[in-house]
Amino acid sequence: MKYAKIVATGSYLPKRVLTNTELEKMVDTTDEWIRSRVGIKSRHIVSDGETLLDMLAESAKLIIERAGIKPNDVDGIVVGTTSNDYIFPSAANLLQARLGITNHCGTFDVQAACSGFIYAMSIAEQYIKTGKMKNVLVLGGEAISHYINWKDRGTCVLFGDGAGGVLLTGSDEPGIVSTHIHSDGQYKELLYAANHWHEEGDMVKRPQIVMEGKEVFKVAVNTLNDIVTEVLEENNLDKSEITWLVPHQANMRIITATAKKLGMPMDRVIVTVDTHGNTSAASIPLAFDTAVTDGRIKQGDLVLMEAFGGGFTWGSALIKM
Ligand code: UT7
Repeated sequence: MKYAKIVATGSYLPKRVLTNTELEKMVDTTDEWIRSRVGIKSRHIVSDGETLLDMLAESAKLIIERAGIKPNDVDGIVVGTTSNDYIFPSAANLLQARLGITNHCGTFDVQAACSGFIYAMSIAEQYIKTGKMKNVLVLGGEAISHYINWKDRGTCVLFGDGAGGVLLTGSDEPGIVSTHIHSDGQYKELLYAANHWHEEGDMVKRPQIVMEGKEVFKVAVNTLNDIVTEVLEENNLDKSEITWLVPHQANMRIITATAKKLGMPMDRVIVTVDTHGNTSAASIPLAFDTAVTDGRIKQGDLVLMEAFGGGFTWGSALIKM
């Protein structure tokens, strides 16, 4: 097979919506600050025992149904996540059982922070192109609210939970045109969640996200500009040929800066940060499914996905629909 083609999408958001007004009661912040500095109005977070696996399973069931295949037709599962409930087994492995897939197909997680979905797509693409797999579920999901310090106004207003993904199938028709993954491990101190559990009073607390937002912002904007240049040059494309930009949804100001670099009007940029917040590895598949489902992204369109996250990691996927 020459290409890995997206044949179906799906996503899931928890029912519980956390508004900026609620956050105003939790930390010293304002709706106005969050909207103007980040572009977020609300985000979804898990509640009542809802897990990452629940969200992945809802997304995957939708994808399988929309693709018109049976669970056992799936012969690979790759999940980008940083917030699996288990150190092991992997979320992909747990998902295989939840979906009732009994064909012993390979399953694994990819940990590349907010770039996890792009990394997962890039890996799945290789398996499909070499003929090792035919139908691969590629998902990004996060229950990242578990790792938030709800007293830190610099981070707690930013993140949200959710999951989404695609079914990639081997095809002779164009699908993924190119994927690009990169990292530079020297920036750990700017954005991390150490796997250290700590005591606070009588409670044992989970690891928490630590971020130097301003510094991350600067590197993110410059790196995302480089990503755009790389994709265009490697594919000998003019920026006007990109139909849709589906960026990682971290901050409206970062999204706007990247769109400007591409010379794209904002009505060709998929934006969900306002109602999803930053859902890390889930942000691109959530935004992508939103725009495919509402009919904006259509067959034949050329879609550029790009992501940037902790590590730092970054990457992109250029897709012919
Ligand atoms: O997804 C992975 C990659 N992550 C990102 O790409 C995130 C990148 N960073 C950002 O999006 C932005 O840097 C933030 C949204 C995190 C912060 O925006 P900023 O414009 O860079 O603000 P800042 O950190 O420079 O803070 C400006 C002021 C500070 O007060 P002082 O020192 O000027 O008095 C902060 O303490 O805003 C204050 N501040 C807040 N005020 C109200 C920080 N957080 C809040 C808050 N509410 N929630």
